[in-house]
Amino acid sequence: MLEQLKEIERTALAALEAVQDEAALETWRVAYLGRSSPLMQVFSKLGALAKEERPVVGQAANEVKKALEAAFGSRSEMLRQAALARALSEERLDVTLPGRPIARGRLHPDTQILRELYRVFAEMGFQVYRSREVESDEYNFQLLNFPVGHPARDMQDTYFIEAEGRGDNPIVLRTHTSPGQIRAMREMAALNPQNPPPVRIILPGMVYRYEQVDARHETQFDQLEGLAVGPGITFSDLKGTLTDMARRLFGPQARTRFRASFFPFTEPSAEFDIECFQCGGKGCDVCGSGWLEIGGSGMVHPVVLQNGGYDPARYTGFAFGFGVQRIAMLKYGIPDIRYFWENDLRFLEQF
Ligand code: PHE
Repeated sequence: MLEQLKEIERTALAALEAVQDEAALETWRVAYLGRSSPLMQVFSKLGALAKEERPVVGQAANEVKKALEAAFGSRSEMLRQAALARALSEERLDVTLPGRPIARGRLHPDTQILRELYRVFAEMGFQVYRSREVESDEYNFQLLNFPVGHPARDMQDTYFIEAEGRGDNPIVLRTHTSPGQIRAMREMAALNPQNPPPVRIILPGMVYRYEQVDARHETQFDQLEGLAVGPGITFSDLKGTLTDMARRLFGPQARTRFRASFFPFTEPSAEFDIECFQCGGKGCDVCGSGWLEIGGSGMVHPVVLQNGGYDPARYTGFAFGFGVQRIAMLKYGIPDIRYFWENDLRFLEQF
């Protein structure tokens, strides 16, 4: 039996020497290590051997198996290297082949419009302030002068994250970027509580509302908030800033319009519209009436200044907020807000 094993090993190794390609290697593996190979038959006959012979033959068979497997491994590696070397030496350069076009990535239209807005406001002296998307009821509503149960909360249907055990202060997804006003003012006021420094910031970011989705409404969208606080800031500063924004975005002929409105955190409050650039105010498919509704604005309410750490007797401020996708839809003529997050290349590749 031991002699037979030696013979099996010798034959197998000799046969392996002759193997020159992958197919022959596989044939060799089946013949010498496969289920019906002579070696495997030795294993299956072990049970029939005498008790004291069994371990000796078993061990020898195992060693032969290991040796064959190792030889197989190195032969396979050798063939692979040889094939690689052959491929490299045979490679030829066909200079007449047409080049492969490079697919270039591009910025999402939302990113493009946001960057444009950052630039427009940077030119006017506004810095970007980023605030959290998960807020407490206190920051999203109460400190902005929406007390618990205030009917104005109905304007912004809210997603609640955690209400259990938090009483009147559940955790919510922010419904607008305005809670960032309080966070920014508090951070600034902490620098110098007696004389808080002036604030001139924009607050961009996602907001979330439990909305019926349609061509103009999504459950998540970007807002851009603006806040300026300082001694002697007036409503005409607000009008000037928003009119300037419209001109920088849509051209020097752009006109703005302010309509009296209500927000708990501004007084007085106004919604602002931009004259339709499609029809020049005559009325068309895009605007209907000649004016495009952009967002809300107003003078920061004294209670909100106070909550931010700014003495309303010494400071005034203005704030505004609008939907970023709205602006992108106007600027690029996008008819449906749902296109923004569908990730459809036919849409994205147009920008
Ligand atoms: N936060 C308001 C909204 O989402 C917009 C707004 C911001 C109004 C700042 C006034 C001042 O509707």
